[in-house]
Amino acid sequence: SRTLYTAGRPPWYNSQGQLKKPFVIGISGGSASGKTTVARKIIEALDVPWVSLLSMDSFYKVLNKEQHDQAARNEYNFDHPDAFDFELLIATLRRLKEGKIVEVPIYNFQTHSREPTEKTIYGANVVIFEGILTFYSKELLQMMDMKIFVDTDSDVRLARRLIRDINVRGRDLEGVLHQYNKFVKPAFEHYIEPTMTVADIMVPRGGENDVAINLIVLHVHTQLQNRGFKLRSKLANAGCNGEPMPTSL
Ligand code: C5P
Repeated sequence: SRTLYTAGRPPWYNSQGQLKKPFVIGISGGSASGKTTVARKIIEALDVPWVSLLSMDSFYKVLNKEQHDQAARNEYNFDHPDAFDFELLIATLRRLKEGKIVEVPIYNFQTHSREPTEKTIYGANVVIFEGILTFYSKELLQMMDMKIFVDTDSDVRLARRLIRDINVRGRDLEGVLHQYNKFVKPAFEHYIEPTMTVADIMVPRGGENDVAINLIVLHVHTQLQNRGFKLRSKLANAGCNGEPMPTSL
């Protein structure tokens, strides 16, 4: 599930060497490309305390009755930029970028609506922000320190999406295919694929690309050290003995 990784308020919140401004990583890519898997693998390999994962799904707009009926018939376009509350998204990422606490809606894909409760995301050293249209807004792009596009073959994405939507999101085969052909595929081609050009790094094949993930992690470690963050000794020994790297690197 799409959870945050900062569970509970850290006892040393905003002290003991936590970065004042988190390093923000944006991850984009088509539906079922493996964005969340890439994010999880980065978090695991980073081995840095306080990494938060923010998902665009939390920012789906609340539907009115008519839109809700359309969604139930797979006739609502969840892949168009208008489906997202970009204003709230920008304000939320801005607060996180300032190291502040945010409350984020929890989205339910089965009911197409927000849960009654919200989740709290605390300021972190690294914030990973993933979603199909994370590179769509200029304001969001400006807040990202690193932009990753997960580029997975469209047949693979469709196959994964079928399995996920039927098994996890309570949909039926016909409905998923209808929505895919009518909205998901055209929106990918029109809005998502073109944003590839703003990415710093492309990750072919998504979560299974360990070489790409290791390279990303190396870069983030270097950037964190440049900002004065002390890596744990295990990482420091593997890297540059904990000494800050020259800022020109
Ligand atoms: O996890 P992923 O990036 O695939 O999530 C985005 C996808 O979720 C979109 O392609 C959209 O079609 C789908 N979606 C849906 N029903 C909703 C909200 C989003 O099928 N209620």
